[in-house]
Amino acid sequence: MSGFDTTVHLIYLACATCFVLGLHLMNTPRTARRGNQVSAAGMAVAVLVTVVVLIDDGRIAAGAVIALAAGAATGGVAGLITARRVRMTAMPQLVSLFNAVGGGAAALIALGDAMAHSADLATLPPQTTITTVLDLIIGAVTLSGSLVASGKLAGLIPGRPLVVPGGRWIALLLTLVSAGLAGLYLTHHGGAGVLGGVAAAALAVGVLLTLPIGGADMPVVISLLNACTGTAVAMAGFILDSGPLIIAGALVGAAGAILTQLMATAMNRSIGAILAGGYGTGDEAVAIPGGTAGAAVREISAEDAALQLAYAHRVVVVPGYGLAAAQAQHEVVALARALKERGVDVSYGIHPVAGRMPGHMNVLLAEADAPYEQLRDLDEINPEFPGTDIVLVVGANDVTNPAARRPGNPVSGMPILDVDKARSVIVIKRSLGHGYAGIDNELYTLPGTSMLFADAKKGLGALLAGLREYAS
Ligand code: TAP
Repeated sequence: MSGFDTTVHLIYLACATCFVLGLHLMNTPRTARRGNQVSAAGMAVAVLVTVVVLIDDGRIAAGAVIALAAGAATGGVAGLITARRVRMTAMPQLVSLFNAVGGGAAALIALGDAMAHSADLATLPPQTTITTVLDLIIGAVTLSGSLVASGKLAGLIPGRPLVVPGGRWIALLLTLVSAGLAGLYLTHHGGAGVLGGVAAAALAVGVLLTLPIGGADMPVVISLLNACTGTAVAMAGFILDSGPLIIAGALVGAAGAILTQLMATAMNRSIGAILAGGYGTGDEAVAIPGGTAGAAVREISAEDAALQLAYAHRVVVVPGYGLAAAQAQHEVVALARALKERGVDVSYGIHPVAGRMPGHMNVLLAEADAPYEQLRDLDEINPEFPGTDIVLVVGANDVTNPAARRPGNPVSGMPILDVDKARSVIVIKRSLGHGYAGIDNELYTLPGTSMLFADAKKGLGALLAGLREYAS
């Protein structure tokens, strides 16, 4: 091995170390930002070194270098601008879009490599052709599935389960078609053209699998697609014989797979049943008898709510998507701090799928410097609700819906935060509007619940002002 090769391998090793270190730093919100920077720096160096290697090998001409530089600049600038401008609430759909880009890029690598080797297909070893086929299928399913998921999260496609008549059977048929065409390629009976058919079938399967999933199942699907992106990228690494790509893809794939399993367990779902359409599919909205709009709910003013909070011994704050939408994380932490100063025992009850992306509430609260020890997860906080004076629900809906304890609706079986078991509940939201699952929440009509109809930021601001006025 030449000195140049040794140096390149050592740099790649350092890059891979950066990926692992970065992932480790993402373990806690405090160090997550640094983790991102370390991983991104590792990837930037790996890309640069790869370009140098390609030029040194004489594998790319000057025109290709210009094309690569233009592509990297366009993609880099587009990514930078999008990531800088994106609102926190639109982050989940952006992440899903990035998943789609990763899957699509991996699929294109497989297709490109197959086209480059179309003349010597028969001489390719099975490990290369099998990897190419798997990369193409996983990448294409991830591309179309993530685009649908991103559309659902952005509200461009309805978030509820969209059932295509016979969709599961069509997906099964397309899977068989895709497998048949892949078989032709693997037995050297077709070239890149056959792979085009595999890609088209896999793209359609991705759409058909993701469209009927909605409501409480979406978080599991998003992490599953994330795991698929990583796997497809690792396969692309094998095709290109790129160590850093294999390691980065394997890390994303493994982390995504673990997250998927954790999400599925937390949501009381089985991954197979979700993909087969076992949950939340085709159910109609569950209405509170008489309808939520007409149902009797108790309204409370910010002043009265502040007074109740001031007298409480123990308060649990339950944040949800509305907190993120209102960007009210600083206000909620300021209120919790003010209550704490009055001697109130305050903690936050965090549901694993509150918001629109894994860890959404933890990230928001960490941004506002909420003390980490006050953040309690579902299993920890649920037994404590019966001994809680007030639960302050801020922009959360589905994760508190007692309908989850009954079968036959889109949140059935999903573990919820048992806020209805507390002595009283104050809910801050703008209306009786639905959450992501699109169903009524009977919590709002329970005798112990009071509604503070307001935007989360304004409502929390009013509560804090009321509390300060009372204290002075
Ligand atoms: P949701 O059930 O989606 O409810 C959010 C509530 O926030 C809405 O009912 C809305 O009511 C209120 N809201 C919106 N803007 C507000 C504002 N500016 N101020 C105050 N309230 C506002 O939220 P959740 O309880 O966090 O549950 C999350 C849902 O999303 C679950 O169904 C979950 O399965 C799904 N999901 C989660 C993920 C991940 S990974 N976390 C991914 C995809 C889907 P008003 O309009 O009346 O204000």
